[in-house]
Amino acid sequence: MAESMAGLHRTHRCTELSEANIGENVTVMGWVQRSRNKGSIIFTDLRDRSGILQIVFEEENCGNEYYEKAGKLHAEYVIAVEGEVRARSAVNDKIPTGHIEIVAKTLRILAEAETPPFPIEENSKTREDLRFKYRYLDLRRPDIQRNLMTRSKIANVARNFFAEEGFLEVETPTLIKSTPEGARDYLVPSRMHPGNFYALPQSPQLLKQLLMVAGYDRYFQIARCYRDEDLRADRQPEFTQVDMELSFVDVEDVIDVNERFLKKLFKEVKGIDIPTPIQRMTWKECMERFGSDKPDIRFGMELKNVSDVVKDSEFVVFKSALEAGGSVRGINVEGQGEMPRKKIDALVEFAKGNGAKGLAWLALKEDGTTKSSFAKFLTPEIEKALIEAMGAKAGDLLLFAADRNKIVFQVLGALRLEMARQLELTRKDDYRFLWVTEFPLLEWSDEEERFVAMHHPFTMPMEEDLDKIDTDPGAVRAKAYDITLNGNEIGGGSVRIHQGHIQEKMLEVLGFTKEKAQEQFGFLLDAFKYGVPPHAGLAYGLDRLVMLMVEADSIRDVIAFPKVKDASCLMMEAPSEVDVKQLDELGIAVKPQEETAEKDAE
Ligand code: AMO
Ligand code: AMP
Repeated sequence: MAESMAGLHRTHRCTELSEANIGENVTVMGWVQRSRNKGSIIFTDLRDRSGILQIVFEEENCGNEYYEKAGKLHAEYVIAVEGEVRARSAVNDKIPTGHIEIVAKTLRILAEAETPPFPIEENSKTREDLRFKYRYLDLRRPDIQRNLMTRSKIANVARNFFAEEGFLEVETPTLIKSTPEGARDYLVPSRMHPGNFYALPQSPQLLKQLLMVAGYDRYFQIARCYRDEDLRADRQPEFTQVDMELSFVDVEDVIDVNERFLKKLFKEVKGIDIPTPIQRMTWKECMERFGSDKPDIRFGMELKNVSDVVKDSEFVVFKSALEAGGSVRGINVEGQGEMPRKKIDALVEFAKGNGAKGLAWLALKEDGTTKSSFAKFLTPEIEKALIEAMGAKAGDLLLFAADRNKIVFQVLGALRLEMARQLELTRKDDYRFLWVTEFPLLEWSDEEERFVAMHHPFTMPMEEDLDKIDTDPGAVRAKAYDITLNGNEIGGGSVRIHQGHIQEKMLEVLGFTKEKAQEQFGFLLDAFKYGVPPHAGLAYGLDRLVMLMVEADSIRDVIAFPKVKDASCLMMEAPSEVDVKQLDELGIAVKPQEETAEKDAE
């Protein structure tokens, strides 16, 4: 009973109509949000991607045949209505079209619909697995539709901005060579070369550097990237970067063009003026003050190093951490001195979940007394000095971690965010950008027992630290920068090494033999022999940027067809097994699951 739309032409989207159109004949098409039969009048809410419009069927205006048909309408039917725009008697100020309605003259049912497994409505409370299985229905929800429309706008502003700034849009391949360092690659088997694999790019990094060697000067791409990592709310196995690379530049040039980009983006999309220059902080200062390399600077509660204050205390937890070269640091959760014991215990568990061995706490009661998990180990003098060093007053709660610096930062950094969440200290529409600079070049990997590149092996060390690369590699800072927003890393980049001898040194420190380096990045090292300009670049995580701009909680809400936690697509049921014939062609045999599990157990 689905009708054709022959002879009909949609004249407007639902919310393109307003009081200015009163008296006009229009044709609208879309989905039935709901339909209410009031006896002699039928009210139907019509929905399209622009919003909702009320249609009224009255027998004296549409005749008996259409009136009868309108009586059959159900949620999610696709319909076309011709009619006249008129002022609404009962105004609805909640929707943009609340002052008008369409008095229907004709109705066509273009498609009937089964009752959907969940209602199509804003801020749905539906279970995620159901939403993602029927993502095409979930995508009909107005909030998700707005997210994707904003995403499209953001991509357009980016494209236009960088084009105007002289960046050339170049597409780079997505079947490339697997290179180590960084996350795990997604591999694609080759039929032509059995036993050989392409990798899907984790980013266009090496290719964009080759474009600089090729003289393209300023490159830009909205690029799909793939990383086989464990998923979180801000991570997907495939995601999109706004990626760029520039020649004949240094850190300041990259920062300059990107501050202008962010300013324009937030103005055009959100009408917000971002103050520039954007604040900068070195990696070291970020860690010391916020315990994080992507600090949320919308609130204080900064970390304080109290190692000196407690260095003579008899508390073994503090003592042993200091003796092992670690530190004791704390945060002051102001006004939480009366927090119930149960909630404090939950914070201790939270800290343990973030790698702490324990969490020492000291509550300053409103009546001037104190209560603490470690008071018995402290002299009154040290307790007093500690409270003073933390800038605490009656009614505050102090939380301390003692451990290796890395753990202390991790624990207090996480606690600080958790307290802000619990106490609702931040607003999503308060946008606070921060450049994090002077990242360490290298990071010690306990797992691999060697230094690994913190950013990637082509990142330029800071000139003033070059002499430390042999003697104290861990102390060398890099010309690398991240742009963070409200505690999220929305982008990152670096100045690249363009001098052969520095590159050789770097690969040596990373433990590459000449042969291994040639095998992995020979194409890049060779290219650099033929005249490489100084170059630098940056890439934004587009999904994260959009998530923050639309004030969503997860990047899944700004990606049309996202994957869920176990990296699968519930709608398509990907990944899936494939035909034996397909595998044969690729020269691939799949090991039975048990065998793999046994191997892992060994
Ligand atoms: P980086 O690895 O920092 O740099 O990536 C750039 C930005 O991409 C986003 N991002 C992700 N978004 C969603 N899901 C993921 N799994 C994911 N991983 C990263 C982050 C991050 O800041 N080639 C370099 C850039 C350069 O040096 O020019 C690179 O890829 O927002
Ligand atoms: P204990 O003597 O082990 O009972 O610890 C006394 C207090 O110190 C408890 O509140 C513990 O949670 C806390 N604590 C233990 N280890 C640490 C640590 N590494 N950092 C901070 N506090 C700790």
